[in-house]
Amino acid sequence: MKAVITKALVDEHKLILRMIALLERNAALTTTGLFSNWQFYLDGVEFIRNYADRFHHAKEEDVLFEALVKNGMPREHSPVAAMLMEHDKGRAYVKGMEAGAKEALAGLHGRENSVARNALSYASLLREHIDKEDTILYPLAERLIPESMRDEILAEYERAELRVSGNSREHYQNIVEGYEQEKIRPSGLTAEWRY
Ligand SMILES: [Fe+2]
Ligand SMILES: [Fe+2]
Repeated sequence: MKAVITKALVDEHKLILRMIALLERNAALTTTGLFSNWQFYLDGVEFIRNYADRFHHAKEEDVLFEALVKNGMPREHSPVAAMLMEHDKGRAYVKGMEAGAKEALAGLHGRENSVARNALSYASLLREHIDKEDTILYPLAERLIPESMRDEILAEYERAELRVSGNSREHYQNIVEGYEQEKIRPSGLTAEWRY
């Protein structure tokens, strides 16, 4: 039986989707003035930059997508090119979210809409992006990439992970779990939400 080369990536999507759900929940409240824990957004930025980008997207960009290109997928005007463009688009939204949250933390007013808009744009972009990868690109990779390349791809994933210094997978899981467990008051607010 062929080694499955996309399972690790599908598993990483699951944690990324949990952060996306938190961004959607909290940004919707930020637009109505009910959530102003700006540190949440900065923690979200850290999660996205380090876990979604350096940990996950690095495996796609440096390993899986390269293997697809080696097996006949064009580098330009192709699903791989589209996915790379979406990674970049996501990075721009994250920059906007970070800038707004930092300004708000520094005491500037009126940053709610900018933070929420960037967070929600990122969330909807990444939700669709992950769906395309899970349902179209990864199944295609499983069909296209020959058995002879698969062990090396799995080894390259490990090397890509080792290149990412700093916090562990558990650290990012803990960030997500911590915010998921914020207690909701009957009014819909958590104790931590108003600073
Ligand atoms: Fe991707
Ligand atoms: Fe992905």
